[in-house]
Amino acid sequence: MKCMEENILIVCYSYSGKTRRIAEMIQEQTGGRLSRIYPRQPYPSDFETLLLQVKEEIRTGKKIWLLPVDENADKYDVVFVGTPNWCGTIAPPMASWLGENDLTGKTVLPFFSHCGGEDKGMEQAVRDLCPTAKVGSSMYVLENGSEDLHDMIQTWLKQEKVFTKRMINDKEQVLDLETDSTYNMCEDRKLK
Ligand SMILES: Cc1cc2nc3c(=O)[nH]c(=O)nc-3n(C[C@H](O)[C@H](O)[C@H](O)COP(=O)(O)O)c2cc1C
Repeated sequence: MKCMEENILIVCYSYSGKTRRIAEMIQEQTGGRLSRIYPRQPYPSDFETLLLQVKEEIRTGKKIWLLPVDENADKYDVVFVGTPNWCGTIAPPMASWLGENDLTGKTVLPFFSHCGGEDKGMEQAVRDLCPTAKVGSSMYVLENGSEDLHDMIQTWLKQEKVFTKRMINDKEQVLDLETDSTYNMCEDRKLK
């Protein structure tokens, strides 16, 4: 459980903007830092070509070279990782990012955007790529979550016991948290 916005990093890969919207709302609610990742070689815009390429990348476990990012995961304790569901698993750029970064001991909270397909092990794919991290339960969102997104994120953050100063300063949250024993686990109650 962390109460410091400074400890939270939100890393996101998004091809067409839906995962990005979710990432931005997590940032808004937690006050964490958002870092988007991009492949060095942009993906094709034609869906059939993209699909063929992605299937092959997933089949071979191809490493995707990413553009340099300004945020390094080292100084963060809680790392949200967001990716679309691509062919039933995490998108190769996010798989590559997870493979490249040492997340040992960090709390990793995955979130996924999909277009109606079942989650057939995306959370497990994240666990496999960062076996030394503490991977929490993931949030699986249809497209960009539309008007349900705000509440969905609130529920998830509470379930994963992520509270930040920003959330605690919200009056309703304070009332909610006062009656919630998990709040007492909060590292720094003085932040209020
Ligand atoms: C190459 C590719 C493969 C996809 N495979 C799946 C899939 O297996 N299951 C699913 O529910 N959605 C699938 N989708 C849909 C995306 O997960 C969905 O549109 C998502 O909201 C896009 O997120 P983004 O806008 O952040 O890229 C696929 C999309 C693409 C481009």
